[in-house]
Amino acid sequence: MQSRLISFDARLGIFRLLVGQNFEYTIGLYRAKWPVLLHFGKSLGDLSHQPPSFVFDSIPAQTREFAVPGENERPSAPNPSYSLQRIPLEFPAGESGDLRSPAYKAFEIVSSDGIAKKPALEITYVSHRILDGLAPKVTETEGVLPGGRVPKDAYATTLELTLEDRVTNLRVLLYYTVFSTPDSVLLRNVTYVNANSTHKIHLARAYSFNLDIMSSSTLDGNGNHAPLDVISTRGSWAREFGLVREPVANTFSIGSRSGISSHQAWPGIYLCPSTTTEYSGDAWAVCLVYSGDWTLTAERDEDDGIRVQGGLNSEVTEWTLEPGAQFSAPEAVLAKSETGLMALTQTLHSFVRESILPAKYATMTRPILANGWEAVYFNFDAKKLEDLAGRAGALGIELFVLDDGWFGKRDSDNSSLGDWFVNRRKLPEGLGPLVDNINAKGVQFGLWFEPEMISPDSELYRKHPDWCLSFEGRDRIEGRNQLILDLAIPEVRDYLFDSISAILKSANIVYVKLDHNRKFALSGPGAHWGKGRDARYTGYRHRHVLAAYTLMERLTTAFLNIHFEGCAGGGGRSDYGMMSFVGTYWISDDTDAVVRCEIQHGCSLFLPAMVMSSHVSAVPNHQTGRITTLKARTAVAMSGVLGYELDLTKMTPKEWDEVKKDVEWYKERRGIVHFGDMFRLRAAYGSRGSMNEVSIVYVSKDKSEALFFYFRPMATANQKDAVVRLKGLDSGAKYVFDYYYDKIRRTMTGRELMNRGLVAPYKRGDIAPVVAYLKREGTERL
Ligand code: GLA
Repeated sequence: MQSRLISFDARLGIFRLLVGQNFEYTIGLYRAKWPVLLHFGKSLGDLSHQPPSFVFDSIPAQTREFAVPGENERPSAPNPSYSLQRIPLEFPAGESGDLRSPAYKAFEIVSSDGIAKKPALEITYVSHRILDGLAPKVTETEGVLPGGRVPKDAYATTLELTLEDRVTNLRVLLYYTVFSTPDSVLLRNVTYVNANSTHKIHLARAYSFNLDIMSSSTLDGNGNHAPLDVISTRGSWAREFGLVREPVANTFSIGSRSGISSHQAWPGIYLCPSTTTEYSGDAWAVCLVYSGDWTLTAERDEDDGIRVQGGLNSEVTEWTLEPGAQFSAPEAVLAKSETGLMALTQTLHSFVRESILPAKYATMTRPILANGWEAVYFNFDAKKLEDLAGRAGALGIELFVLDDGWFGKRDSDNSSLGDWFVNRRKLPEGLGPLVDNINAKGVQFGLWFEPEMISPDSELYRKHPDWCLSFEGRDRIEGRNQLILDLAIPEVRDYLFDSISAILKSANIVYVKLDHNRKFALSGPGAHWGKGRDARYTGYRHRHVLAAYTLMERLTTAFLNIHFEGCAGGGGRSDYGMMSFVGTYWISDDTDAVVRCEIQHGCSLFLPAMVMSSHVSAVPNHQTGRITTLKARTAVAMSGVLGYELDLTKMTPKEWDEVKKDVEWYKERRGIVHFGDMFRLRAAYGSRGSMNEVSIVYVSKDKSEALFFYFRPMATANQKDAVVRLKGLDSGAKYVFDYYYDKIRRTMTGRELMNRGLVAPYKRGDIAPVVAYLKREGTERL
């Protein structure tokens, strides 16, 4: 049954896509040739009064002096004069008079010596279909790209537009998918097809989407022109997710060339007029479902419109299509809001919960865990681990994760990656007895792996020196003393699956942290790519990503009872591609509470708190040297998925009592953080370091409970109490609330809390946390 989520109005030549309950995405066929974006916003309602020239009339695109016309003038046509430069094109090819950046670049290889002859010049509409379900994706030998799944109890409808260049026979299939959920995103997929039976086509750029935001859309609420800002999260190792809001002055470009989606920038952006705030104004979000090299750009045109586009980073990945071959670009996720940035965040959070995370994680309460990394690093034996786990159990912590150093001969980051067998010097009895002893203390057990890597000092390397990525004839560069395995070799994937599976079956392991700790550098396609595979050569990085997905898929489906956590030296690969296989993510190696305020805040733009592992660690902090109170560290960690990462055997009795109480308190309330709606209440959008107030409230779906957090990251003297207006509560209900640290109990109505606000008392010291739990009083209504 075809649903009403997408319809085609043949008379007007328009496709209308319902994006959730609030928005429509309207594509018009301009001159029956060019798919154009007519509208992405609130519904346009009935259009039956419009004449057939509606699409042409709606876009002010008349040719100006010196502009190149869209096609040669035909005197008989009603209004032949237009320029593609002024049209919001859905998938621009360039070379057509449109001087903005093209979404793809291709050339046809017509001779066996690889000489390129015919650049693809004009790609135009051929046909369309409206399909039930998701967009089809091409499976390569190495695997298939992940993407948004249909949410539970919902359905999806997909529009397929076929465009073709009649000279080269490059066919482009544009897919637009929407869900029947009230807060649906718009998924965009593109498949490139070489419909030529003799010639190869080389894709020098093969983006995933193009979004032309015309200047008329960048008005503020009062109808005044407001320049468009772009919001991105940028940083480095231990400084991920620094939020940057900046005007699109001319050309904005971010991306990754590191082989993974990177610590430097997360593959998603928000765009909005400069006047948009958390709770008012228009905003768009675009994210890529991809874990390798990517690009996102925004380019201002001569009329102050903005062209946004992105996908695979064409600086490092090109792709050659053999005759008849197809290629799918990574999925892009588009979202719209007309009520500020927070609504976009909530749409993306729902999307992650319902469509990206494997279904079992949507309703799974995240355990409170203790991770051994910052507690012991590589220095442990079975006794130490059992002591740590025993302490954890006594504190009410539910799971102990043995991090790096348990395998091969690993005593530092110098060796043994790839040797996935137990280090008998440290654990002479093996994992089985260790895990049994830990389980006997009422604590579950988790284990760390870094599957995609190999240490030159390892048994695996000595046996298979050709299994790593490298360029023939060049030295191999080691990052963190390690090399990257060539996952495109099926035997490599089999070896990893078999050796990791054997470990997972050898003991009662319920949690696995999957890490990835180096970037690509001279990590070329190894010798096996050899002759006859040249066409694949320029795509080896993408093929590597597909192979990594295949391995993840295999592991996570073979061990359905295991909870997988993602990690890449912290947040280096916390994109929606990887999130498709895991339930939580270690978003940064920086556990300093002050830095975490900003990291978690930036991260919240794209990821819900239920996936954000957040640990209390020792002081002075191991990354920054800063000393903060236990309360400060705990409160910040409680605003995500609380965990501990410090030597629990070295705590003072006072700290012991405090942690025990915290664990109990959080356990009873964690469902609000994991499954509730998030509202950011305070935080200046700006460059890294500019904000000194962070406040969030999580509200349970039925509005009966809420958890409020207020942090002043850097201590400042002589401030008054803050008054913070809450969001998302039941305005007619009465809430009783307890301040966790301040021994205050108050009662206020939802209306008071949202319109006047809750007082966050001023305190000295960094973070100075105020945490409050709000509970709706009975069923009494006011
Ligand atoms: C990375 C991770 C850490 C830890 C170490 C172990 O840096 O992000 O959490 O697992 O590797 O080597």
